[in-house]
Amino acid sequence: MLERVCKGVVSCSDIVALAARDAVFLRNGPFYQVPTGRRDGRVSDISHAANIPEVGDSIQLLKSKFRQKGLSDRDLVLLSAAHTIGTTACFFIETRLYNFTRGGGPDPAINPDFLPRLKAKCPFRGDINVRLPLDPVTEETFDVQILRNIRDGLAVIESDARLYDDRATKRVVDSYIGQRGSSAFGQDFAEAMVKMGNIGVKTGSQGEIRRICTAVNGVPL
Ligand code: HEM
Repeated sequence: MLERVCKGVVSCSDIVALAARDAVFLRNGPFYQVPTGRRDGRVSDISHAANIPEVGDSIQLLKSKFRQKGLSDRDLVLLSAAHTIGTTACFFIETRLYNFTRGGGPDPAINPDFLPRLKAKCPFRGDINVRLPLDPVTEETFDVQILRNIRDGLAVIESDARLYDDRATKRVVDSYIGQRGSSAFGQDFAEAMVKMGNIGVKTGSQGEIRRICTAVNGVPL
């Protein structure tokens, strides 16, 4: 629709940044200004995704992957808190439930009252495509509850749980739980989103404005 109304003006990367902002707001999260003017990449190569954080990464690796992009330990916690909305496939928690310890046990960070619920949703060798909320307490609201979950052993994916194992990230989690911290959370999250959205931005004559977001211009689908 955008291309029909004003051709070649709005990039897909701006659309994604604005859509993320609107999704947060529509779930009662903060509203924030998103700088625009990004252009889209001309390259799409799986090798460029090699340094994306993974669910089973150690906390050291998560921190260093963020740091390499100019994002702090605080940003890591704030941005992971986006898991206050949305879902995960059982695929991403299978190891955490059934093959975490050497003896084949679950991640001991999972609250023992929560474990049977997770196992019931994602049985051993069950359907890995079944989806469950990343924040089982307030799955449809953008709020600070995800950080309380992390403290209470209710994190669903491993990378969220690991934020409470490390002294620096634990301190950040704790700082946002409670009356004073939770009022700062929305604005701090918004700032971290803007910071992340400014990484490696293409402007001027770099890149292009894609006509179709899933393809580089001129490459047959
Ligand atoms: C710390 C590194 C991160 C890891 C390892 C991670 C991992 C994951 C995984 C495994 C899922 C489930 C994917 C699926 O089953 O489709 C997921 C979903 C999601 N993640 Fe992350 N994530 C990370 C950081 C982030 C950040 C920085 C944001 C945004 C600020 C974010 C926002 C989301 C959202 C909104 C969903 C739900 C998607 C949906 O409902 O389809 N995550 N993440």
